[in-house]
Order: sequence, then C-alpha cells, then structure tokens
Amino acid sequence: MKILKNISLKEYNTFGISVNAKRFISIDSVYQLQQLLKVEKDIFIISGGSNMLLTKDIDKLVVHINIKGISIDREDQNNVYITVNAGENWHDFVLWSVDNNFGGIENLSLIPGNVGTCPIQNIGAYGVEVKDTITKVEAVEIETEKLVTFSNEDCNFGYRNSIFKNTVKGKYIITSVCFQLTKKKHNINSSYGAIETELASKNITKPTLKNISDAVIAIRKSKLPDPKEIGNSGSFFKNPVIFKSQFLELEKKYPTIPSYKISDTEIKVPAGWLIEQAGFKGKRFGNYGVHDKQALVLVNYGNASGEEIYQLAKKIKETILEKFNISLEIEVNIVN
Ligand code: EPU
Repeated sequence: MKILKNISLKEYNTFGISVNAKRFISIDSVYQLQQLLKVEKDIFIISGGSNMLLTKDIDKLVVHINIKGISIDREDQNNVYITVNAGENWHDFVLWSVDNNFGGIENLSLIPGNVGTCPIQNIGAYGVEVKDTITKVEAVEIETEKLVTFSNEDCNFGYRNSIFKNTVKGKYIITSVCFQLTKKKHNINSSYGAIETELASKNITKPTLKNISDAVIAIRKSKLPDPKEIGNSGSFFKNPVIFKSQFLELEKKYPTIPSYKISDTEIKVPAGWLIEQAGFKGKRFGNYGVHDKQALVLVNYGNASGEEIYQLAKKIKETILEKFNISLEIEVNIVN
C-alpha cells in the first residue's frame, strides 16, 4: 500500500475531468482496505468512476478500489452462483458470462463502470435490471472495518436506486457482488423495441445470449458515446415519473410524447425526449455539450471542467421545469 501525491484523476473518471487528488491509494484486497480504514476513515472512494462528475480537486484521501477476481461458488441444475470482486470491469464480466453461456446480464452489455458500483444505482438497460441477478452484496463498514453481507432484499432496490444511495450512503464500501445466473433455460429478454429491430435485421428468430449481447452492443454504440473517445457518464438524469393527470395534459399539447405506465396514476416519461424538445440535443458549448444521438447524455469533448458541465445540467433542469413543469433529477453524483 503506497500513498501517491498529486495524482490526476482524469483516467479514473469516464467524464475525463482533469482534477487532482492530493493523496491517492489503490487497494487490491479487503484486508488492505480494512487496514487502511483503521488509520483513515475520511476518504473518497473511486471505482470505475462512471457515475460521477468531479468539479474540483479532492482534498480527502482518494481510495481506488481495485480488488480483482471472479469465482464460481457453486452450481445446481439450472443456475450458477458467482462472486465477483468490486474492481472487475462490468462489461468484461458480462462478456465472460456470455462466453460461458451464463444468462441474465447479457442485456446489460457495454455499460461502463465496475462490478462494485452496479448495485448502487441498480444499473438497468433494455428491459433488464441488475437487481434480478444479485443474490448478495459484500461491503466493509467504514466505521467498524467489518465485512458485512447485504441480501438482495436488504439492498432495497428500485429504479436506479438502492439502500447504498439512501440510508447507508457513505457508510459502506462494496467489495464484492454475488450473482445467480442461468446455465440453461435462459430467460431471453428481447422484447425491447430496439433489440427486436436489431435481431430482425439479422434474421435471428431464436436469439442466444451472444446474439442479445451483440445486439445491445450495436444499439449502444449507435446511440451512446464511447467514454474512451468522448467523456460522459451515460444518462445524466433519471427518467421522471409524473402523475397521469399531468401526462394527459402534456399529451394534448405533444401527441407524440413517449411514455411507460408505472401504475394507474403514474407515468414515466423519457428525460431524453423532454431535453430534445427543449432544443438541447446536439448543442455544443465549446468543450462540452449534449450528445447528438441521445439527449440524456452530457459530454466532455475534451478539457471541459466539471463545473461547466454542472452549470449546463442546471440550465437544462430549469428549462424543463419552465417548459413542462417537470423536475428532472440528476442521476450522476456531483462531487463539489
Ligand atoms: N428519446 C428522444 N430523444 C432523445 C433520447 C430519447 O426522443 O434524445 C426518446 C426515444 O425516442 C424513446 C425514448 O425517449 O422513445 C426512450 O429512449 P431510449 O430507449 O434511448 O431510453 P432512455 O429512457 O432514454 C434508458 C436508460 C439508459 C438505457 C436505455 C435503454 C435511464 C435514465 N436511462 O434511457 O441508461 O440504456 O433506457 O434501456 O433510465 C445509462 O444509465 O447510462 C443509460 C444509458
């Protein structure tokens, strides 16, 4: 364990924001983490850095969670139970699962970030949420340095939400996640419109896990910027849920507004659509802007500051509130 001084975090966050850590340490085991916590608790955790917007240098000790390893714990007739350490890259784990014909996370291909952060915001895409495959989450409690286990139920998962964003926020560091994946009788989920279209274009009628993963990769590549080329953090906002009465009023004015029913009284509307209608899609302001193919994604074209991107997000929020009377919620963690 070695503490490094004045390290740039540009390579450690997918937005590619260039701020510095005064002190930085990379941790590669639970034991190391526990030892560190014995001497320092006021720390800033960074893992895949795929869901944060850094707006200034970090004064606290930055702890990079780099605990690697995938192990198969047990198997039964239909399922395999796997523990994946927090520092494993999420997409590499998805590809490994697909290669082994383990099903359940293929729709979540190409999502940036590491395994340790996937439960925090319950990553979801193309009809699947990671909560449906997680059996438990292991984490070190900062206060006591103890390793504790959260069952799926304990995690209190919701749309882009979990206990780690709420009641226990900042109290635990996730060190590994356990998954239950299928070995056979896969629950292939190809109902999402874009997946159906992609499979049909290739004349695939009975998709395999690999077909689904390939389709999702193709769709994401066509819509979402690759963080290695253009800095971004995926969806910057959550899709808002509004009352049906408000939705019906909006629909009168905008008959093409897309929507998903949540309950008899609540409707979810895509934030990307609202932002596009407000004229922000593809807008570039110098070094930063709104992605031209998916308005939900804010981008850093190079050397933008986190503060500039945050100000743009606030401007978008204000405009959407004024135009539609809808309050958008930022999904990305703003570090300021
Ligand atoms: N839309 C627009 N303009 C846009 C973007 C979207 O009109 O610029 C419309 C689309 O035409 C479509 C609807 O909005 O009718 C939904 O679009 P899309 O299928 O792209 O999904 P989304 O609701 O915008 C969510 C997730 C994405 C995930 C996709 C696919 C949230 C906040 N985002 O986006 O997640 O990939 O569904 O399942 O729920 C991420 O978290 O980083 C992410 C990319």
